[in-house]
Amino acid sequence: MFKTEIYVKRREKLRELVKTGVGLFLGNDTVPMNYPANTYPHFRQDSSFLYYFGLDEPGLAAIIDFDEGKEILFGTDVGIEEIIWMGYLPPLKEKAEKIGVKEISPPNKLEEFLKNALEKGRKIHYLPPYRGEHLVKLFNLLGIKPEEAGKKASVELIKAVVEMRSVKQPEEIEEIEKAMEITNEMHLLAMETAKPGMYEREIAGAMEGFVIQKGSYLSFPIICTIHGEILHNTSQENELKEGQLLLVDAGAESPLHYAGDMTRTFPVGKKFSQKQKEIYSIVLKTQLTAIDAIKPGIMYKEIHLLAAKTIAQGLKELGLMKGDVEEAVANGAHALFFPHGLGHMMGLDVHDMEGLGEDYVGYNHTVKRSDQFGLAYLRLAKELKPGYVLTVEPGIYFIPALIDQWKAQKKHEAFINYNKVEEYKNFGGIRIEDDVLVTEDGHRVLGKYVPKEIDDVEAVRSKQV
Ligand code: GLY
Ligand code: MN
Ligand code: MN
Repeated sequence: MFKTEIYVKRREKLRELVKTGVGLFLGNDTVPMNYPANTYPHFRQDSSFLYYFGLDEPGLAAIIDFDEGKEILFGTDVGIEEIIWMGYLPPLKEKAEKIGVKEISPPNKLEEFLKNALEKGRKIHYLPPYRGEHLVKLFNLLGIKPEEAGKKASVELIKAVVEMRSVKQPEEIEEIEKAMEITNEMHLLAMETAKPGMYEREIAGAMEGFVIQKGSYLSFPIICTIHGEILHNTSQENELKEGQLLLVDAGAESPLHYAGDMTRTFPVGKKFSQKQKEIYSIVLKTQLTAIDAIKPGIMYKEIHLLAAKTIAQGLKELGLMKGDVEEAVANGAHALFFPHGLGHMMGLDVHDMEGLGEDYVGYNHTVKRSDQFGLAYLRLAKELKPGYVLTVEPGIYFIPALIDQWKAQKKHEAFINYNKVEEYKNFGGIRIEDDVLVTEDGHRVLGKYVPKEIDDVEAVRSKQV
């Protein structure tokens, strides 16, 4: 955990931002796999609960009374039965002291407290729920129907939490760097051990095992695939074959659950083919150009469009695209090859605060989400500020079904050379992703350099036996 005063100050700041009403924070519970006592092994606390209350265990809830400044932690003190099965657990009072909360209460008092507040007509602020158990709790505690629970979440609280969690403090950057240490090692492990004849799941399994050995866990399910063109492909059943590319998108959490998120794409054999080198070079140039442009004050949408233009220019030079690059990007023609956004915020969640509503995190009154195919998926568009941590993850993909659809529709024919694209239909996909901190005067790539220049990747790959 961070020092007590960090949690105290965070809640103080939140009280300044949300001036009135009651804030209700539901911690997560363990999740059963197939019967109640047989739970998934990696308990994951809710990220906003972690941010304000730091306690990384199930069965907790908390309230902040914004009018009176009162804070109460709700939970159960374990009895001898639990101690027999789970060993000694510190009393709730001790846990509350660690986070500077003065009042504790048993869980059944939460209902009473909220009932009282509702009777007085006070506003209860809560964040959008994303787990079934929270929908049930919100119904039991506040009488809000599950289908209305998302809509009735407090916009005021969401905005305040987003404002605070977006700007990472030095102790949070340190945590992200710890996540990066494990993440970097995971990727090196994959790059050093993958070889023809292995299965995707063997690489992914070794990476997950490595993270668990480090006392950590994944920040999201590993993508380890020879079908990089399937963007969030979590199937891992293919055998690796000479001549293919392996795309690995994976990250680990730090001890306090800050995320890492990184992608590398490398040849299954020792070297890239000429065709692979050409596409890879465009993606790498795009990523380096985008990283270079990161500084406070610039809109991330601008950097996304810069990336799109770099991709379109590169593909034009290879004969896959044609016409005016600016015009092609303005029309969204590049999205055949680069259909996703350049990146997203990262912090306690890998897609940071996505559960609070992507538009609150990545957009504001100065920039609204586009409805153009491709650009519509951009998670972060707004102006960058020092302390933001974001991913830069351009890619080029050849998605056969999308190519067929666009070709049949003659879509963006002025900008796409479909005859040439046919030659790449079995190419797969390439993405390169790093995590970047926006500093006062520019940016800093977090973590250590994991080979991405072609020579460096081939140097690691050439060591395979
Ligand atoms: N790991 C999913 C992403 O890069 O957004
Ligand atoms: Mn990723
Ligand atoms: Mn990412």
